[in-house]
Amino acid sequence: MKKILLATDGSNSSVEAGRQVRSFLTAFPEAQLLVVYVIAPMAYSFDTGTILPDIERHEREAVEEARESFVQVFADDPRVRFFTSRGVPANVICDLADKEQVDLIVVGSHGKGSVQRALLGSVSQAVVRHATVPVLVVRGQRNNDASAS
Ligand SMILES: Nc1ncnc2c1ncn2[C@@H]1O[C@H](COP(=O)(O)OP(=O)(O)O)[C@@H](O)[C@H]1O
Ligand SMILES: [Mg+2]
Repeated sequence: MKKILLATDGSNSSVEAGRQVRSFLTAFPEAQLLVVYVIAPMAYSFDTGTILPDIERHEREAVEEARESFVQVFADDPRVRFFTSRGVPANVICDLADKEQVDLIVVGSHGKGSVQRALLGSVSQAVVRHATVPVLVVRGQRNNDASAS
């Protein structure tokens, strides 16, 4: 395994996914890891001009949260690169996996603040469905995500 893509949104599941990936990095010393947080487009039906600063602040906070949760897991491992991208998360993740020719995509089973408990979150579900490489879905700890099944 040479290249792994970890998609993180700072949720408990994605932190758990990060821990799993860390053990892969130990097992595969030559492996590279890309960690991506995707800033999703927001749909507003009203004039965004008035609330643009709020949107920007919210985006900055979300990026920082994702980055912090990742730094906690990987410290400053030089094989790991964190970056952000904009777009529809599942599309960005799958496109990136193709472009970067990764061997494995790793996602959490659920994301931040999901209220009702589907088997998989919408992003992980779409990634599993559309990815052209294997996808590892990692469950978060029970009771620790926004809601437990
Ligand atoms: N914006 C995002 N950027 C990167 N990865 C994401 C993003 N949103 C979700 N993910 C990945 O998908 C997993 C499942 O999240 P998601 O499908 O959004 O669940 P939910 O519907 O519970 O929010 C997360 O643990 C994370 O690995
Ligand atoms: Mg989500």
